[in-house]
Amino acid sequence: MKIAVLKERRPFEKRVAATPDAVKKYCALGYAVAVEAGAGLAASFSDEMFVAAGATMAASVSAAVQDADIVLKVQRPESADELGGLKSGAVLIGLLNPYSARDDLAAYASHNVTAMSLELVPRISRAQGMDVLSSQSNLAGYKSVLDAADQFGRAFPMMVTAAGTIAPARVLVMGAGVAGLQAIATARRLGAIVSATDVRAAAKEQVQSLGATFVMVENEETKKAETAGGYAKEMSAEYQRLQAELIAATIKKQDIVICTALIPGRPAPRLVSEEMLRSMKPGSVVVDLAVEQGGNCALSEAGKVVEAHGVKIVGYCNVPSRVAVDASALYSRNVLNYVTLLSAKTGGQLAINWDDEIVKAVTLTHGGAVVHPQFQVR
Ligand code: NAI
Repeated sequence: MKIAVLKERRPFEKRVAATPDAVKKYCALGYAVAVEAGAGLAASFSDEMFVAAGATMAASVSAAVQDADIVLKVQRPESADELGGLKSGAVLIGLLNPYSARDDLAAYASHNVTAMSLELVPRISRAQGMDVLSSQSNLAGYKSVLDAADQFGRAFPMMVTAAGTIAPARVLVMGAGVAGLQAIATARRLGAIVSATDVRAAAKEQVQSLGATFVMVENEETKKAETAGGYAKEMSAEYQRLQAELIAATIKKQDIVICTALIPGRPAPRLVSEEMLRSMKPGSVVVDLAVEQGGNCALSEAGKVVEAHGVKIVGYCNVPSRVAVDASALYSRNVLNYVTLLSAKTGGQLAINWDDEIVKAVTLTHGGAVVHPQFQVR
């Protein structure tokens, strides 16, 4: 069977769904791999590297997808060329963003494409190697701190010099999931004094084990704030009020705020108000990793660095893509692990077990219909 690896076309996207290393492994599984020319360039993988790994290069999208049984992407298809060229029954694998791009599901179904969205990989131990949200959020958390440092007119670590002492930066991380924990670790490595907040009580131990202080409103509600899948729930208005009071008191002492709080399928919780920004010291920096889901911080704008009340608010889009080489390497390994789950041991053939818990969780459309219970129109 044939696998196609397409060039990404969406703004801010530099990653590629398969690295030359992954291509080698697909070939070892018995697949033929076609890579669209230039697909890896933005992530520093040349066409020659793909050819050396065993791929054939395709001059266009349509040449790459022609007769392809499996199409690998980072982001969902953009142009009619990408989706329209897929053969009936092809399997499309990527970050298909089903919560925000619901209309696409009908298009996948009407093209009879089996669409599999890797954001939906369940958080079970067997699926850890396929967990794209973790692999990408981890890098986003790391890069968010470097982006903050880049905008900050001061240093992070304490420095005692003959010319005087520099105080360490104070960093508050909002949301202590995968991105938040990596942001804490990165800020600590740079020498900052770090604190963090979350609504899941389970985060406390993880935050403290990284040497940061945990700041949280703990009450009856936080005992039930985590879903069975480990994600946060939307909190009540009363909890939000108490949390806002605590954040208001904490934030004015901070130099850097890293926002990572998300609720799957819902807009990001608004945690930093304009009033709080006003209370921060001039020269402070807020990085809003949640900006594309509506933002944790007032005034943050997708794709921009905004300055308000003396505070810089960084709203870069697609932060994993800002570390494109490593993000591609980890993403393509996640995808390879998933394709291996779908494949026969040899011979480059799909042998999909439709009853597999992971396959069920990620499959949006199959056989010309939307099959995922969460996305079926009732
Ligand atoms: P996420 O990206 O959905 O959200 C980021 C963080 O924001 C979460 O920690 C969440 O609790 C927090 N948050 C949401 N609303 C908030 C609010 N109002 N105020 C403050 N914080 C708020 O979460 P992510 O990073 O995907 O992790 C979710 C969970 O999955 C965590 O428990 C993590 O440890 C777990 N996990 C489990 C894995 C596994 O078992 N294989 C792999 C990776 C993560």
